[in-house]
Amino acid sequence: ISLKTYNTFGINAKAAYFLEINSVDDLKQAFQLENHPNKFVLSGGSNLLLTNDLNALVLHINIKGKKIVEENDTSVVVNIMAGENWHNMVLWALQNEYGGLENMSLIPGNTGTAPIQNIGAYGVELKDVFKSCEAMNTQTLEIETFSKKSCQFGYRNSYFKNEGKGKYIITSVNLKLTKKNHKLNTSYGAIEDELKKNNISQPTIQDISKAVIAIRKSKLPNPAEIGNSGSFFKNPVLNASEFKDFSKKNPEAPFYKVSENEIKVPSGWLIEQCGFKGKRVGDAGVHKKQALVLVNHGNATGKEILNLSQTIREEVFKKFGIRIIPEVNIIK
Ligand code: EPU
Repeated sequence: ISLKTYNTFGINAKAAYFLEINSVDDLKQAFQLENHPNKFVLSGGSNLLLTNDLNALVLHINIKGKKIVEENDTSVVVNIMAGENWHNMVLWALQNEYGGLENMSLIPGNTGTAPIQNIGAYGVELKDVFKSCEAMNTQTLEIETFSKKSCQFGYRNSYFKNEGKGKYIITSVNLKLTKKNHKLNTSYGAIEDELKKNNISQPTIQDISKAVIAIRKSKLPNPAEIGNSGSFFKNPVLNASEFKDFSKKNPEAPFYKVSENEIKVPSGWLIEQCGFKGKRVGDAGVHKKQALVLVNHGNATGKEILNLSQTIREEVFKKFGIRIIPEVNIIK
């Protein structure tokens, strides 16, 4: 079967076998299918680039369900099953007046994969609302609970991308959200500007969500219209001495201080400086409004997108001496 509609890049790679997983039980049973030693777990398909057909049994995670597991006057813990679409879940939380997710509105993908790369946007990361998650151990088929600490969250990083890679399938996520006295985060300049533009001085969580949606729509391509996986690269983190060197040569470059010795430089800026913004090689391209996003204009193959990404990495390294690293999971 073609996976074109199962990955937001819209890559027409094929799966040898495909199974829809609708419950944790389905998942356990699928892992017991010994005649299919190669299994590939696919969820929202919003953070991967398929560069080949998959000679595997593809397990499409479609486990649904949301429930409240703890509640008091000021906060609530919600349990969200892995196959719930992230943005629909955020809208559901906003309708119920649960705060904490508004800055992460409109991020593509499913809730179960959010912890893998600790998704984040506009000053907030998943880890800020994360309580714990449940995951199936692919060896024992037991469900284990991971605390926030054991997930080892970092910038677009977690245990599940490192030691835990391939060992666990996240089945549900527990988020701690506020019911009142919401902690609003409007520190990101673009949000402030958007609120000002609409004359909002006392924003609600819904106002922030609307602002984020407007900003994202203005910069990021809608995967339903043009294939993409959001930011293709991570933003590189320079140490103080590397940054000193860099900013001497590039005083106009934007940057963001993470700590005394860690300064993030936007890959989007570096890529734009190399002249790639809006460029196109066949159907593989760089988005015209945000150079950090690679796009599929229609019929690009995963290999064509990968080649373009490698050219970009080489040019950025030549010009700035900085190695940028893909954020998207490249499946070879
Ligand atoms: N910039 C350019 N040219 C570009 C793109 C960006 O000069 O083509 C400059 C901007 O002017 C700005 C700076 O780079 O000064 C940062 O740009 P932006 O605010 O758009 O954010 P970003 O660093 O490009 C990150 C995340 C996004 C997230 C936004 C907002 C990563 C890898 N990406 O992008 O996350 O939405 O911040 O918080 O950290 C994603 O991970 O898929 C994603 C979209």
